[in-house]
Amino acid sequence: MAKHAQSFVCQNCGAAYRRWQGKCDACGEWNTIAEENAAARAPGRPPRKGRLFALEPLAGEAHEAPRLSSGLPELDRVIGGGFVRGSVLLVGGDPGIGKSTLLIEAAAALARAGHRAVYISGEEAVAQVRLRAERLALSEASVELAAETSVEDILATLSDGATPRLVVIDSIQTMWTDAVDSAPGTVTQVRGAAQALIRFAKRSGAAVILVGHVTKEGQIAGPRVIEHMVDAVLSFEGEGSHQFRILRAVKNRFGPTDEIGVFEMTGTGLRQVANPSELFLSDRDLGVPGTAVFAGIEGTRPVLVEIQALVAPSALGTPRRAVVGWDQNRLSMVLAVLEAHCGVRLATHDVYLNVAGGLRIQEPACDLAAAAALVSSLANAPLPADAVYFGEVSLSGAVRPVPHSTARLKEAAKLGFARAIVPEAGREPAADVALALTAVGALTSLVSDIAARGVPPRRAQARMARQDG
Ligand code: TYD
Ligand code: MG
Repeated sequence: MAKHAQSFVCQNCGAAYRRWQGKCDACGEWNTIAEENAAARAPGRPPRKGRLFALEPLAGEAHEAPRLSSGLPELDRVIGGGFVRGSVLLVGGDPGIGKSTLLIEAAAALARAGHRAVYISGEEAVAQVRLRAERLALSEASVELAAETSVEDILATLSDGATPRLVVIDSIQTMWTDAVDSAPGTVTQVRGAAQALIRFAKRSGAAVILVGHVTKEGQIAGPRVIEHMVDAVLSFEGEGSHQFRILRAVKNRFGPTDEIGVFEMTGTGLRQVANPSELFLSDRDLGVPGTAVFAGIEGTRPVLVEIQALVAPSALGTPRRAVVGWDQNRLSMVLAVLEAHCGVRLATHDVYLNVAGGLRIQEPACDLAAAAALVSSLANAPLPADAVYFGEVSLSGAVRPVPHSTARLKEAAKLGFARAIVPEAGREPAADVALALTAVGALTSLVSDIAARGVPPRRAQARMARQDG
């Protein structure tokens, strides 16, 4: 009898092979295939006969999932109003981004509210976790701690006594279960451990949070294969050099996926940022050539962000196009439209575009602000410091309307802006918005407006020299 207990599994995507090979055919990664023992059932035992269960109609009594507030409004916003009983949440992010900090704070907030919260660390010793809690001034919260990695031991402990309301497992990659033979950290182990913990959550009604590390490509390593098993996947991101951390829902069975939570990493833990626009705008840069303010929307919340562009003559045969915080393809598209329809020559220029504050913008509504910043830098023409921009640019050079204009305009007015440059077609009868609106139908008209304000670089330098002398 041929036995194929041994199989080779790609650690990146989970594809299984009969024999080892260097490259995974499924995801194209090299050197990710490792040997794993897939035998789960004892040999010789016959398969169990199925048990009958009742099928239910779709119509029936449904009740709103009861939620438990995490005590952190920014976290609640992303998960959709609080932890759902019996739900499992995967929180991914780069090492060092602040996942453990966020979750110990959430656990402490729940414990303070009188709920039983358990924090299991597979990476740090209890003393280390305590040290962090001390730094965060949370030591008096009655969170129950343990440094454990065996899923069976953890489940036995959790099932003993009152069911906790929240269990944090930090991280799922360090957990291992006896039910699977492979080494800890392999896809099979991660999947097996997650399955056991998910079963515990559904059975007991505790909310379970799994922490997962992310690979350099931005994928949740190994845990990628458990993304479909959990109820929600959150990603905690930020630029290492910036203080801002953004929590985003990638998948959410119980809430929206377009909300973001904004935090700032301080010396004493994560500070919640209720009004993110303040973070992403710096007074210093406004009114400087190459800076435009984009009135964006993240989920249901308007956010004003500074878009910075630098267009400079290139010394290279192939000029550079670098972008941080926005889509490279969108930048290429906006540059192509500027060249093709607006007579802007960029073929001999390097182009850099940066979204201030480490935010990553995904909206096409940013096209107009990006174009304005680029032209402003090229023409050395500062944009009005009291203006915001939004609108999508089509390949024909037309400026197209975008949703939520009123919310964007209201946020801009609230933060002291006086004008908005908006798409023509989407002009709403914004009755109560105290902003002067300039509607643009085509990108060309915006470009000529900006260029008309420009100072040629040489004359600007001469003027500065005169001022110095
Ligand atoms: P941590 O939560 O351990 O990250 P993760 O669990 O995602 O790997 O956070 C680590 C970083 O956060 C570390 O570089 C130090 C920084 N930090 C602060 O700046 N202030 C603080 O109060 C804490 C606890 C951490
Ligand atoms: Mg950690």
